[in-house]
Amino acid sequence: MMLSKAIRHTNVKSFSLSRNVPKISSHRTLFCCALHSKLLADRPASKPIVLKKSEVKYKPRHTQPETGNGEYVFVSNAATFKFGRSVVERELGEEAKNLKMKKVALFTDVNVRRLPIFIDAENSLKKAGIQYTVFDEVSVEPTDASFQHAAKFASSHDFDGFISVGGGSVMDTCKAANLYATHPADFYDYVNAPVGKGIAPPGPLKPHIAIPTTCGTGSELTGISIFDQRSTHTKTGIANKLLIPNLALIDPVAMESLPPMVVACSGFDVISHAIESYTARSYTTKPMPVHPNKRPLHQGSNPYSDFGCLEALRVAGKFFLRAVNDPSDAEAREKMLFASLLAGSCMGNAGVHLPHGLSYAVSGMVRDHEVEGYTSKPIIPHGMSVILHAPSVARMTAPLSFDRHADTARALGVDVKADQLEDSGEILAGELIRLMRGSRIPNGLSAVGFSEEDIPKLVSGAYRQKRAIDNAPFVVSEEDVADIFRAKVIQVITAGPSLRHTEKMEEDDGFPRVQLMMAYLLALGDSIALAIALPFVPEMCRERFGLGENVIGIAAGVINGSYSFALFLSSSFLGHISDEHGRRPVLLFGTFFSFICTLLFGLSTTLYFAVAVRILGGLTNSSTAVTKAVIADATEKKPQYRAAGYGYHGATVSSARAVCGALTGLTSGIILTTNPDIPYLSNNREFSVVSPVLTKTAYILPCIIGSSILLIAFVAAAFFLPETNKRARPFCSSSEESSGKKSKGGMREGVITIWNDPLLRRLNVTYSINSFANGAILTILPLYWSLSMDNKGLGFSTFQCGIAFSLFGTAAILFQVFFFSKVIKTMGSKRAYIMSSTLFVISSLLFPFNGIFYSSLGVRTVSDVLTWGYLTLTVTLNAIGFMTGLPLVSSMISNVSDPRRQGLVIGTAQSVSSFLRALGPVISGAIFSFSVVIGQPIIIFTFLASLYVICGTIAHFISKEESDRIDAPAKSVTEIEMEEEKKPLEMSEEEEQRKKREYDFIRHSQEV
Ligand SMILES: [Fe+2]
Repeated sequence: MMLSKAIRHTNVKSFSLSRNVPKISSHRTLFCCALHSKLLADRPASKPIVLKKSEVKYKPRHTQPETGNGEYVFVSNAATFKFGRSVVERELGEEAKNLKMKKVALFTDVNVRRLPIFIDAENSLKKAGIQYTVFDEVSVEPTDASFQHAAKFASSHDFDGFISVGGGSVMDTCKAANLYATHPADFYDYVNAPVGKGIAPPGPLKPHIAIPTTCGTGSELTGISIFDQRSTHTKTGIANKLLIPNLALIDPVAMESLPPMVVACSGFDVISHAIESYTARSYTTKPMPVHPNKRPLHQGSNPYSDFGCLEALRVAGKFFLRAVNDPSDAEAREKMLFASLLAGSCMGNAGVHLPHGLSYAVSGMVRDHEVEGYTSKPIIPHGMSVILHAPSVARMTAPLSFDRHADTARALGVDVKADQLEDSGEILAGELIRLMRGSRIPNGLSAVGFSEEDIPKLVSGAYRQKRAIDNAPFVVSEEDVADIFRAKVIQVITAGPSLRHTEKMEEDDGFPRVQLMMAYLLALGDSIALAIALPFVPEMCRERFGLGENVIGIAAGVINGSYSFALFLSSSFLGHISDEHGRRPVLLFGTFFSFICTLLFGLSTTLYFAVAVRILGGLTNSSTAVTKAVIADATEKKPQYRAAGYGYHGATVSSARAVCGALTGLTSGIILTTNPDIPYLSNNREFSVVSPVLTKTAYILPCIIGSSILLIAFVAAAFFLPETNKRARPFCSSSEESSGKKSKGGMREGVITIWNDPLLRRLNVTYSINSFANGAILTILPLYWSLSMDNKGLGFSTFQCGIAFSLFGTAAILFQVFFFSKVIKTMGSKRAYIMSSTLFVISSLLFPFNGIFYSSLGVRTVSDVLTWGYLTLTVTLNAIGFMTGLPLVSSMISNVSDPRRQGLVIGTAQSVSSFLRALGPVISGAIFSFSVVIGQPIIIFTFLASLYVICGTIAHFISKEESDRIDAPAKSVTEIEMEEEKKPLEMSEEEEQRKKREYDFIRHSQEV
């Protein structure tokens, strides 16, 4: 169970403390409550906080450590700094002289070396007459090897001072080089325990001036130096106050050319430094040192660092998104640099805890994740890996100090009311997630290449970060760390569509279950209306309409395609009507007409009548599209569940089509095939219809079953489905209220909206081709199976077609239940879609060889077994493609659509795809008939395979940025409107060009 939910929902009577703590006693509870009361006593609170047992899930730190006296002192080890525009150019040389530097090691990296800030530094040193040697071989993410390489360089010269110009990597490398050059030792002597010996340097280091070029790391103010231990793929470091630079020159000039993602990641590092330092365990909960000189560098939260943390958050809350999204906003970027200064100073004093502790393992285990604005090698930037954990940790730690979490949320700009204190963890998490969305941070750990299988290694790496873990406000066990990774971080915002979201949905109060259940039920009805006839149409054409073998393909194609063609004509219009006047009337109207038309179809005695009722059904019912809009409406306040909502919707539609085919085939087949001597799975098609009445009911019975489901859906929706479109107007008021401002609707507006977005455009092309091919394959399979063996078919009866569809449906459902979510999590939407196309291609090419055993072995038991075995294999491959392909691309379209135009965009997409889905059966039916005439069924299957090749190829060329956009969480209407309010005026062309140049200019990443 997810941790925050556990905290919120655990029953008081049955609650026990975390797994490493014995069952709670009343005495202990009182103690814990008292402890919290004391912790909160110093804070202004407008109402008393009553802590429940359930909130004390984690064992808090004791105020009086059992091993000795508690700490009573807090210390400032802050570095000296100068902050101001052009301070490097004007004052570096003089400051270096003040520190008696004559021969300097100037550390940087190859990218920073080209920047104006580095040139300013060089000019200033030259002007002051100071010799310097440049070392630009710093690794972007330093390792033990790169530290040793830098130390070797520093030791081989007789430097009397060090200057670092760059991000965290450069400054950290410079600190380490200075340390080993000044006090030579074995590398792991100074490295933090337990990885190294953790020995303190024997004396002061040579003077060091640090010049940061990003806004996040705070390294210029701390005595910390982080590196990646290559053998274990984890981050560790050296921490001692002697490593604090003697002077930091903080110059906003350095910020001007940073790419947005570098600002986003370093800005989140700033925010997390402040939040973690403010919510870390109190310094009073640490033991008093045995000697005054032995106080740890990180003391825990204290009044001195608290002050800077809140101010840093106040500044970041105001300027973060501006600084990220507008490189020309010099004010915002300068403010973020100031926030970095404050937060870095606090972090160096109080120390960080869980988000940082966990992040080092994540960054250290990076595989192939690349980030725009950074070097081309795989990287998960420090700030990115930190902030991925921050929301989960906030929810987890809030019950230990609600008011502190409320303080941080308020500082970021959220209005947290006094009676919302107990929700402060959730509120803070929500604000962080909002900022993450606004700066396009990836959607959880799965989006940066991790899966649940990685959790043991991540835990092992994270738990080694003792310095950070021990600074958390509660006693952290390895299993607690695993819980964060397992239950929270993987889905920090949302994962892709997954059945596992059920658990999350059920636990979440206020989740719109009723609306979603109704949407699924109505979509199920719509799918039944579409698929009900598929298995018996060939038989119906043959037996009831008296058509010959050579035209059955065309007739079946027309019957199946007519419904989709009618949908093409109506979907866009009905989608628009639902946007304007509400989803409910459109859905009720369509479902009722589908009920009537499905019933009438079973009674059809002529081809024309059958086609007419199919068209009428398609014209009136567009539930599949409109129910997607219902999902978008219903999840507006909980957009993190939208992807899952679409996932279920796609699964419902696809499963219904597969299962419906099976049920129909079996029902009509059992009635038609009444001779008990006929082995049902044999290809012997000697029909013995014992009763004309039964023959007449063969087609009406499945239609009665289908229409009954539609009627149930109609009645249920009439009673339980509320109007989800809050912007809907009554039909009668449209002419007056919308006079002069009525929005455009219908196909044209929808096509323009889709066309204007290149990604949406390509996704819709894929969606349409996929729909065409899916419509075709559902028509072709029963045609091929029922085709006589003389014509290279399998000679199946309707019953046997039903069995084949059952296999198809079973494989589809098993895949959905057991593998779908895993596949999406592991592969991501894009790769999963390519996989589905590939499976379609393979299965399509295998289908026409299904009859090979009958032609080579004749009709007998062995060949029956081989034939059905082969068929099971091919339909399984096809079913996996079927369940993955269309639902995925449909979910992608929904995710990248503006929620305010969901009905129109999805309706248009549905409309266009319906047109092609209508053409699919007609064209493929015609090609099938042609294939039969010339005796080569393989032609139609090759044609279908080529369509899926096109779908897979289009998906293959989706870029990484587009893929991130697809997998990003859907935004609510409110969020989009808020963003648009804050959005600066449109950039001029010149600004746009400049922005592009800046994107291309720098590829550096210098963070802790
Ligand atoms: Fe950091």
